[in-house]
Amino acid sequence: MLIKYAEIDGFKNLSGISFVPDKKYNIIAGQNAQGKTNLLEALWILSGCRSFRGSKEKDYICLDGSRMISKICLEDAVREQKIEFEMLRAAAPVKNITLNGVKHKGTKALFDVFKCIAFIPDDVDIIKGAPEKRRSFIDMAASQLEPHFVAHINRNNAVMNQRNSLLKSIMQGRSDAGSLEIWDRQAAQNGAVISYMRNSYVKKINEISRRLYAAISGNTEILQLEYRSNIYKAEDFENPCQNEAVEKYYTRLQETAEYDIRTGSTHSGVNRDEIIIKINGVSAKEYGSQGQIKSAALVMKLAQAEIFMERSKDAPVVFLDDVMGELDEKRQRFVFEIIRDMQVFLTTPNESALLPEIQGKILRISGGRIENNG
Ligand SMILES: Nc1ncnc2c1ncn2[C@@H]1O[C@H](COP(=O)(O)OP(=O)(O)OP(=O)(O)O)[C@@H](O)[C@H]1O
Ligand SMILES: [Mg+2]
Repeated sequence: MLIKYAEIDGFKNLSGISFVPDKKYNIIAGQNAQGKTNLLEALWILSGCRSFRGSKEKDYICLDGSRMISKICLEDAVREQKIEFEMLRAAAPVKNITLNGVKHKGTKALFDVFKCIAFIPDDVDIIKGAPEKRRSFIDMAASQLEPHFVAHINRNNAVMNQRNSLLKSIMQGRSDAGSLEIWDRQAAQNGAVISYMRNSYVKKINEISRRLYAAISGNTEILQLEYRSNIYKAEDFENPCQNEAVEKYYTRLQETAEYDIRTGSTHSGVNRDEIIIKINGVSAKEYGSQGQIKSAALVMKLAQAEIFMERSKDAPVVFLDDVMGELDEKRQRFVFEIIRDMQVFLTTPNESALLPEIQGKILRISGGRIENNG
């Protein structure tokens, strides 16, 4: 997958950006606070995902502007596609998303079109952060392979919201406990699928991460990922996800219902799953050094890219935000070896710290503009 052309204007501090990227390396260089990360972010949002640094959509538009646009022409193994994302600041804000000239209501349609992977300094939160960070990393990565997974996640979230407000209402005596059943049936349908998909993705990413981490650590350390389902035991996953699995999920929800009603929230199911990450047999979150945590997060993302390539026979576009500077030469080489067949956009405040073999298009960003265009 390849970005052939990009245009950005009015996104945060960026203005008048238009360029034809290199097929391999695009080096976005410049001093701090000039708009390097903004440039990656403006491209990233065309993948249908929310901002990788948690910006709200309303903050995409330049503070003293009224319109932002980001558009690309993308080439995959089959064809060329055009994506446009425009927002207008107005009393009633306007958002125009178009794919090949056809208007879409939201960004969902883009998820299936533009596949990319971003490495950002905050990725260490996959290891260090709350369980939710690990769950959403796995869910996002698995959804890239199986877009229908997103529908199960969304439905599960909607059902959980309904169930949790019903729990409160039962607690306050405004609803009958029997009314939980209908939500528990739906939760079980979606939750069972999500559990099985998480299990299979974690198994896969564990294998690849283990190999990559061994290599990056010079065969001195072992990385291990383990899916800890809230409902199922490891042996349950030996059978396919069928009625029996759904029934088991449902029974568990019913078993904890009384406690759930007393506390007003759901204590069983996929929203309580954990993905355990260990280095040399102990929890990376509790005992990992900064370097180990950083390497583990990077390796998990690289494994995600490898799984994606294997499955789709097409490479995702890679965004590297300020990651290379923090890695020694050996680790940098290792990363570039893995992403060698992908189009890469990387930011750096220090061009000279990059490996000499990273040669490609250099975009020098200053005050939100490309200085060296043309
Ligand atoms: N909505 C916005 N409107 C205008 N400017 C914005 C908006 N949001 C952020 N900025 C500006 O964008 C600049 C930061 O851009 P960015 O994060 O891309 O910097 P950077 O070049 O990646 O810097 P660093 O090297 O420090 O990571 C800041 O000056 C910030 O004030
Ligand atoms: Mg930055």
